[in-house]
Amino acid sequence: MKATKENVALKDTLKDMPQTQLDTRMAKAKPVKLGWSSEEVEHVTHALNDLLVNYSVHYQKLRNYHWNVKGSDFFDLHIEFEQQYMEAQQHIDDIAERVRIFSKTPISTMGEYLELSEIKETTSQLSSEIMVRELIADYTILLGYMFTVVEIAAAQHDSGTEEMVKVFINRIEKHHWMLSAFLAK
Ligand SMILES: [Fe+2]
Repeated sequence: MKATKENVALKDTLKDMPQTQLDTRMAKAKPVKLGWSSEEVEHVTHALNDLLVNYSVHYQKLRNYHWNVKGSDFFDLHIEFEQQYMEAQQHIDDIAERVRIFSKTPISTMGEYLELSEIKETTSQLSSEIMVRELIADYTILLGYMFTVVEIAAAQHDSGTEEMVKVFINRIEKHHWMLSAFLAK
């Protein structure tokens, strides 16, 4: 391009223009955080981690029962437990990543899960009925932690967490009904 007076002026203008919608000063600054106070973040991530540890132990129980269920209910329960642990795996991932969204650390080790969870492991040698009763008891515990998360999230206008966990509640309540109906046969 020929260095005419107009071209030089154009170059100067372009040099001062921001390359993105953020001006240079803003682009170099740290990213703007989500709008919750440290205390609010602490509240909601603590409740999410409580849910996470319990859900993780429950998940392994579902896999245990999927593998080890025996008897005339085998085909029904083997499939049902698999569907439930696939769903639990997705919910657990969503909970842990929600904690990361707040720049906190999800509890991530088996040792911590076993130590901190209210839901407890069982052996593998259980009748199918006892397995189902164990899972129904797990749902009741999980729902309690889910209601706590929703309560905290709603109080601090954290709609993302609130909506996420409300979907989980809906699913767990359905499992509770179905396995309760299974026992009533
Ligand atoms: Fe399987």
